[in-house]
Amino acid sequence: MSALLLAGIGELVTCDGSGPDRLGIMRDVAVVVDAGRIAWIGPDAAAPTCDTRRDLAGRSVIPGFVDSHTHLVFAGDRSAEFAARMTGVPYDGGGIATTVAATRGADDETLRALLASRASEARRQGTTTLEIKSGYGLDVRTEQRLLRLASEITSETTFLGAHVVPAGVQRDDYLALVMGEMVATCAPYARWIDVFCEPGSAHAFDEDESRAVLQAGMAVGLLPRVHGNQLGPGPGVRLAVEVGAAGVDHCTYVSDADIDALASAPETVATLLPGVEFSTRSPYPDARRLLDAGVQIALASDCNPGTCYSSSMPLMIALAVREMGLTPAEALLAATVGSAQSLRRSDIGRIEVGGPADLTMLEAPSYVHLAYRPGVPIASAIEPEGEQTR
Ligand code: NIG
Ligand code: FE
Repeated sequence: MSALLLAGIGELVTCDGSGPDRLGIMRDVAVVVDAGRIAWIGPDAAAPTCDTRRDLAGRSVIPGFVDSHTHLVFAGDRSAEFAARMTGVPYDGGGIATTVAATRGADDETLRALLASRASEARRQGTTTLEIKSGYGLDVRTEQRLLRLASEITSETTFLGAHVVPAGVQRDDYLALVMGEMVATCAPYARWIDVFCEPGSAHAFDEDESRAVLQAGMAVGLLPRVHGNQLGPGPGVRLAVEVGAAGVDHCTYVSDADIDALASAPETVATLLPGVEFSTRSPYPDARRLLDAGVQIALASDCNPGTCYSSSMPLMIALAVREMGLTPAEALLAATVGSAQSLRRSDIGRIEVGGPADLTMLEAPSYVHLAYRPGVPIASAIEPEGEQTR
């Protein structure tokens, strides 16, 4: 593979923790990419000669976004549910059954094509790492199928058999299946185990059920993460801390005790998903309270057909800044290193020599434009070889 010189970078935001706002900004630099890794970073004027040279003409380059929470493998359409919600029908998770029926009925080729199209859409908006959950199969065969397909495009796969209890199955029977045959069959294709812990919902799981599901996953080598405190106050955050989960995601309704628990457990990242609040008309999480208490936060899309059908990390950053009071720097860090931390990854979410060439280019001179120009497609992942798709 031939080396690629990215010259004329006006602003390189390394997110390495140094300098003002911990952004590690370098100006007027060049980057050499070789064999998928960053081989050199230095002053533009001192850049070496490479086989291919691309002039970025003063644009900003940032780490590729790490989207640590998505549900990208599914079939079917729930736009009517969204339209109804906009007239006041609340979200309660009941629509998941619609997606489960459509997904079970779709063959591998159909699901693979849908997944590829959504992954490519995310990449064209600057995302270079995707976490992908199962959870729309809810039977042994389909859950395994969804994880097999997801594992074709990412190593960050999550078994979410405990999404909801499927129609026609007794709750206790379903939990026994999830914690027995289903987790055993899915574990070879998954890195993580997740559960929708929401005792107030008729569809999801309470604290004891959620703990048992997480422990069953951990017993076969999966690492825990939790959907918690989305629809109301609840035990999700504290359960995540108790089991040492890498992330507790949503955190829309958190108490002082939840915040204290997170502040004393830096290994558990609070992942905020503001696209969900946008698409369900829920209140936004109190991100400032979390940050001011010293809690590590991440930003992710939660791209799914029910609560947020958007894979746009720039939109999540714009919402975090406009609606949750984050500075543009805090939002960018949450969408890169913060999100990487919630996947227990230190190799992604930052730009450094020797690291993967996961780079995103902005049609802008500064990362601040991510929030300043909402809805404008300024971010795209840099393709190490061949033509830029945009
Ligand atoms: O993260 N809360 C649970 N699961 C998804 C939504 C699933 C759906 O409605 O299809 C979420 O919001
Ligand atoms: Fe989710």
